[in-house]
Amino acid sequence: MSLHLAALLLISLLLIFFSSFLTPSHASTNSFIFAGCSQLKYTPGSAYESNLNSLLTSFVNSATYSSYNNFTILGSTSQDVVYGLYQCRGDLSMPDCAMCVAHSVTQIGTICPDSTGGALQLQGCFIKYDNTTFLGVEDKSVLVNKCGPSIMGYNQGDLMGRRDAVLAGLGSGGGPYRVGASGKVQGVAQCVGDLSMSECQDCVSESIRRLKSECGAAASGDMFLGKCYARYSAGSVGGSVDSKSGSGGSSSSNDGERAFAITIGLLAGVALIIVFLSFIRKVVGGKGGKS
Ligand SMILES: *[C@@H]1O[C@H](CO)[C@@H](O)[C@H](O)[C@H]1NC(C)=O
Ligand SMILES: *[C@@H]1O[C@H](CO)[C@@H](O)[C@H](O)[C@H]1NC(C)=O
Repeated sequence: MSLHLAALLLISLLLIFFSSFLTPSHASTNSFIFAGCSQLKYTPGSAYESNLNSLLTSFVNSATYSSYNNFTILGSTSQDVVYGLYQCRGDLSMPDCAMCVAHSVTQIGTICPDSTGGALQLQGCFIKYDNTTFLGVEDKSVLVNKCGPSIMGYNQGDLMGRRDAVLAGLGSGGGPYRVGASGKVQGVAQCVGDLSMSECQDCVSESIRRLKSECGAAASGDMFLGKCYARYSAGSVGGSVDSKSGSGGSSSSNDGERAFAITIGLLAGVALIIVFLSFIRKVVGGKGGKS
């Protein structure tokens, strides 16, 4: 346990150090997009719960040096195994990635209380865990399908042409993280890191196909499938893809300070929870030993 604690303290110090470079874009990284929880519940205090806590701690640790990782936490029985992964958006710096994942980890417990499986997508990162494995499995089920208002007026044709060109660019291949822009239209697509190149391509193509067929002449579209997403925004109207384009102005230093305060608060919270859990485990373990 003291190892966990030492690691967390180190992470906190590193994050505090990196936080001094905060820019206003950080606030949007933590914005909520979707969450999902399994119907199945685990027994509070069970081995499964402590494995899940280990998994979430591993996410926070790992996100300080890697933008994607998967974990399998083995238990004493096959019922206690937890599978999980996290991933940050391809353009996030490591401190931003770590902050986003730490934020997700603090949220998921209240969003999915006692669920054996859970997933949370924020603007900047994704976390998912379950007691059945989903690692390396392509999943094209639709999780979020959101279209903005239709573009009206003289520039509709121009914007739609640019939208189609941006989507075609995203679909024409590349790595797991793809961005494109034409005029005011911006697009982004990403696969979860456990997919092969061909699975990634298949998944991105499917989300683009759905965006085009379901979002018609919408100014923005978000299509999140199980293991990938594609999004676009025609600048002025939607702005959902990159909120850095929003007006910064005088609020920027406030945003930075607030994100800084929130980060420290969250990290302190995570550390406290882990101290508390290890304390509880010791107490329970101690009692169990005597009786
Ligand atoms: C997952 O958890 C549920 C609820 O505890 C349990 O019924 C199910 O058997 C578990 N699945 C596996 C593969 O362990
Ligand atoms: C999971 O992570 C391990 C290394 O930690 C890696 O070797 C493996 O390929 C990963 N599996 C998937 C499905 O990404």
